[in-house]
Amino acid sequence: MAASDEGARGRTGSTRRQFLLGGAAAGFGAVAALSAEHTLDRPAAGAEPAPLHGTETVPFHGAHQAGIATDAQAYATFVALDLHDGVDREALGRLMRVLSDDAARLTQGEAALADTEPELAVVPARLTVTFGFGPRFVERAGGEAPSWLHPLPAFAVDRLEPGFSDGDMLLQVAADDQLTVSHATRMLLKDARGFADVRWTQRGFRRAHGSVAPGTTMRNLFGQVDGTANPVPGTPDFDEVVWATEGWMAGGTSAVVRRIHMDLDEWDTVGRAGREQAVGRTQASGAPLTGTAEHDEPDFTARTDAGFSVIPEFSHVRRARGVDEGRHDRIFRRGYNYDDTPSGDHVSDAGLIFACFQADVDRQFTPMQRRLAELDLLNRWTTPIGSSVFAIPPGCEPGGFVGDTLLT
Ligand code: HEM
Repeated sequence: MAASDEGARGRTGSTRRQFLLGGAAAGFGAVAALSAEHTLDRPAAGAEPAPLHGTETVPFHGAHQAGIATDAQAYATFVALDLHDGVDREALGRLMRVLSDDAARLTQGEAALADTEPELAVVPARLTVTFGFGPRFVERAGGEAPSWLHPLPAFAVDRLEPGFSDGDMLLQVAADDQLTVSHATRMLLKDARGFADVRWTQRGFRRAHGSVAPGTTMRNLFGQVDGTANPVPGTPDFDEVVWATEGWMAGGTSAVVRRIHMDLDEWDTVGRAGREQAVGRTQASGAPLTGTAEHDEPDFTARTDAGFSVIPEFSHVRRARGVDEGRHDRIFRRGYNYDDTPSGDHVSDAGLIFACFQADVDRQFTPMQRRLAELDLLNRWTTPIGSSVFAIPPGCEPGGFVGDTLLT
């Protein structure tokens, strides 16, 4: 102990330094306790504990695969796989039987066969596993590929990286608990590794379950309400936009997964008015610039006193919808935010895992993306860096497996 501390020791044996530290700690503790009491919404003694939702399940079997019309869970991992050479139609059947069995069990809170961590399977937290097939999968299966199952055409805005693009197979694993997603993904990949290698993995998130009311439209990392104009699951409108109706794909759909980098550092320099003009909606509520509430129908004909469109010609929503081309193209968006490790003088490397579902990519998605690539003010701050297209086969019944309409 330092001499000065020794000299300052009082009768109680404490030193001046200990006193100061102790005093500070005690003071901090008191402040912390006080503020905790005032800010935390603690249940009163004897009150019912908050309900747990880890045991909630989403049915695996059904006409459609889960994870599309399912109210989006908090976390999703997207994995693209490349098939090994020599994996033929018969092997694909075995692969999909095993993976469907894994998914059927895990989504219901049961361990997969040969699960080495069965304790992790007991919290399904609305786990869904959605399988998609790339062009090569369908070719190896000897099936007739939907006409839209091919990489998207190149767009001028694209800066695509092979490490985030394409793939023979997609796994979309989503749940309200990241540990559940992680375990389920690992189980599926362990069973797939004799047939395929991981091509890319993308992990995304939304607000945690319980943070906001179910059904609240998500916010992306620009702070925008993102998903307002989506068709509503369970309505005839949604069914028409999303589900394919023909051949082995009847009851299935298509997935477009695009990784879109968002330059948050530059976005920081844009004022609120500029941000709202860029998208055509207000940032606070997501209301169209011609309305006051999120779900108000935008008035694309409204003009300012100076004669300009209130929802500008260059705005994202106007371009996405195709208003000035006399169109109203529709897709169902179900994306997730990503937030990676920044480097250099950037403080973020973030964006959107833009995932959308539609019956026909060429008819619904591509004209929209073409228009946005031509003109959309949001392009100043967004860059597509990954892109892939998958056929999402229909769901299966108990005893069947996902892909059985193609493989049996
Ligand atoms: C990082 C990139 C993107 C961001 C930040 C973004 C953000 C937004 C926001 C804030 C809205 C308004 C609220 C809503 O209806 O959801 C919106 C609408 C929309 N976005 Fe995007 N978006 C992005 C990329 C895309 C892409 C790539 C497409 C399709 C090619 C797309 C298609 C749409 C559609 C169809 C709407 C609804 C338009 C309507 O009102 O009819 N978005 N987006």
